[in-house]
Amino acid sequence: MDHGFSTRAIRAGQTPDPVTGAVVPPLYLTSTFVQDGVGRMRSDYEYSRAGNPTRTAAATQLAVLEQGTQAFITGSGMSATDLVLRTTLRPGSRVVLGRDAYGGTTRLLTQVLDSWGIETIVADLCEAAVLEEALSRSASGGQLVWVETPSNPLLQVCDIAAVAEVAHTHGARVCVDNTFASPYLQNPLVLGADVVVHSTTKYLGGHSDLVGGAVVVRDEELAEALKLLQNAVGYVSSPFDAWLLMRGMKTLAVRMDRHCANAMAVATFLEQHPLVSRVHYPGLPSHPGHETAARQMRDFGGMVSFNVAGGRAESIRVAESTSVFLLAESLGGVESLVEHPAAMTHASVEGTASAVDDDLLRLSVGIEDIDDLIDDLGRALA
Ligand SMILES: Cc1ncc(COP(=O)(O)O)c(C=O)c1O
Repeated sequence: MDHGFSTRAIRAGQTPDPVTGAVVPPLYLTSTFVQDGVGRMRSDYEYSRAGNPTRTAAATQLAVLEQGTQAFITGSGMSATDLVLRTTLRPGSRVVLGRDAYGGTTRLLTQVLDSWGIETIVADLCEAAVLEEALSRSASGGQLVWVETPSNPLLQVCDIAAVAEVAHTHGARVCVDNTFASPYLQNPLVLGADVVVHSTTKYLGGHSDLVGGAVVVRDEELAEALKLLQNAVGYVSSPFDAWLLMRGMKTLAVRMDRHCANAMAVATFLEQHPLVSRVHYPGLPSHPGHETAARQMRDFGGMVSFNVAGGRAESIRVAESTSVFLLAESLGGVESLVEHPAAMTHASVEGTASAVDDDLLRLSVGIEDIDDLIDDLGRALA
């Protein structure tokens, strides 16, 4: 039976406990599992780095939501990113990274994995010719295209199917960081991507109470390689974080609908405000990626960025003047957040090709009452 998104979110992997009938799968806070004899296990589990039933339940739920076959639940978005990079790349490999990517991803590639012999090219993935050119040079260890769409922090939108087509002609794999959209708004594997990565810290967890990550794939061989490295190194979440994630994912659709509606209203308000010089939100017809977003996403997401007229000092003043929007890094929780990317989340890429404008503010628009959010921004800008 082909259930809808919310039914799948609530039921996939969520089998009632066979012992007690508990509707919510139990939290298995255990590092190890008793054996009936040497090598005679009572279940599929022997040690929680290799596998834990709570993590399996969350992984099954997410794999179904992303329309993949296997998911791996890790301790952070960055560990999920590293798991993918180290599984798919070798010395001599090249990564083609979208121009506007999460600063931590750029840092990992250019300040850590560079010394492992992995080359990173930053390119505008929205331009097919640019991508063709980047992939046409040979790379002895294979190539990976890393896409973030909508991107962090400029909300640029990239056509995933188009990127996958070009990448696959060159024998390159495509990984999409789907953190900003969540599987409710977009399913990159269906659009042709080979791997999906999430920071589950954000919309999937949804309540700013966990740090976690995930990788989702369809390819069995890739899944085996990911499984090996996950266990070999210990790219795992605690059972408790997996349990919180599972709970968060059940309400993803209702939360996202509200995030999207509130973000659209906030973006529309900001676009006509005299102290705002530019608004970045894919839901606005003025956004260059609006048509692509309308085609590949169910809705336009909960993230909005904008440039404040008056420069860095003025933008920092605005970020420090809100009260409903809390000044904090991260995103995707029920509460609204504001941050200054150049000084906060993207400080590590200052002075590089990925640097961001210093008058830019990023909003994670929460699910509070929209009148309160607009009133708060109006007061801060005034
Ligand atoms: C798009 C994106 N990917 C990955 C990450 C890293 O996730 P984590 O902080 O869970 O390691 C973040 C964090 O903000 C992010 O915004």
